[in-house]
Amino acid sequence: MTAAVPIQGNRFVIIGGASLVGSATAAELLDAGAGEVVLFDNFAFGSEEAIAHLRDNPRLRLVRGDVMRLPDLLQALEGAQGALLLAAHMTLSMDRDPWGGLDVNVRGVQNALEACRVNKVRKAVFASSNAVYGYGPGVKGDLVEGMPFHSAGSPPAAVIYGATKIIGEALCADYRKKHGLDYVVLRYCTVYGERQHYRATNALYIIETLDKVRRGERPQVLGDGSETKHFVYVGDLARANRMAFEAAATGVAVNASGPAPVTTLELVRLVTKMAGGGPEPEFIPEDPGRVRLTTGGAFDIRHDAAERLIGWTPRVGMEEGIRRLIAWRDGNEPKPAR
Ligand SMILES: NC(=O)c1ccc[n+]([C@@H]2O[C@H](COP(=O)([O-])OP(=O)(O)OC[C@H]3O[C@@H](n4cnc5c(N)ncnc54)[C@H](O)[C@@H]3O)[C@@H](O)[C@H]2O)c1
Repeated sequence: MTAAVPIQGNRFVIIGGASLVGSATAAELLDAGAGEVVLFDNFAFGSEEAIAHLRDNPRLRLVRGDVMRLPDLLQALEGAQGALLLAAHMTLSMDRDPWGGLDVNVRGVQNALEACRVNKVRKAVFASSNAVYGYGPGVKGDLVEGMPFHSAGSPPAAVIYGATKIIGEALCADYRKKHGLDYVVLRYCTVYGERQHYRATNALYIIETLDKVRRGERPQVLGDGSETKHFVYVGDLARANRMAFEAAATGVAVNASGPAPVTTLELVRLVTKMAGGGPEPEFIPEDPGRVRLTTGGAFDIRHDAAERLIGWTPRVGMEEGIRRLIAWRDGNEPKPAR
């Protein structure tokens, strides 16, 4: 039997849906003809603002609930064919609150999978991260799916976050093995685009730079600017989430990364240029408010497996993606289709 779940006419629940990735994926699923898209969220980080552009759609429903309360999930997932598991603390909030982070990223995922099992949801898509490869000296070159986790040299919060995503992936595999729940894991790299937040440490190179340049301040680069980062545009990722449901694939974990990596200095210069120009960047050794995610050298998060297994490749390069982010920030975003 195929694990493909068509979008048309079906009901999908996005757990942690009032988010950067959730709002873009809801729009993608609604455009593809989903019967209903439920955004399940406790608004710990998400906001009404992040989903305001979707609120008039009659096929969109917002459910306030908490992944730490299984009954909330059991109710929300009734009659759903697909569930997208997004609710999580990322590295910065893991640094601030490891107690809350471990609860949501581990027990919250287990609760979500259990609610999928009870409700006979046909497929789960789990948002993992390239943090499963770790950071520090062992991480460089092509990052492919079989690569092990490097914890040596990673900041503690990044190890804790990466480890919770490894556990989330293993919980998916466990539910498939024991209960036949189909799933696809997507290992997102740093996401950017419309409704950008300040919660992802590497995305600060984009949003903080834009805000500083707009205020006439010098943007900041940590170190000498030669560090590699790899981003993915949120609209490309929304398409990856949709295609993960539609694909026959199950029991797989694949990277979801943008067309090419970039250095932090190139990125800060690009954002400055796209914002209409601004002062030269300031090089600072460290920012105590930011967890710095360094690696052993340049790297490229390969997305060949995603193409092979779910038919997805990214389409939007950094320049175009940043242009769209700025259009949204300036209130010039095109209206969503109904
Ligand atoms: N943004 C990135 O750069 C990035 C990179 C790699 C992986 N990811 C993963 O992608 C997913 C989505 O990322 P995002 O940037 O859209 O995140 P986000 O912070 O915008 O969204 C997470 C959502 O989960 C909700 N949430 C948190 N705790 C909850 C709880 N107890 N019950 C219900 N909802 C809860 C938050 O309110 C928020 O709306 C996360 O799992 C994240 O780990 C993100």
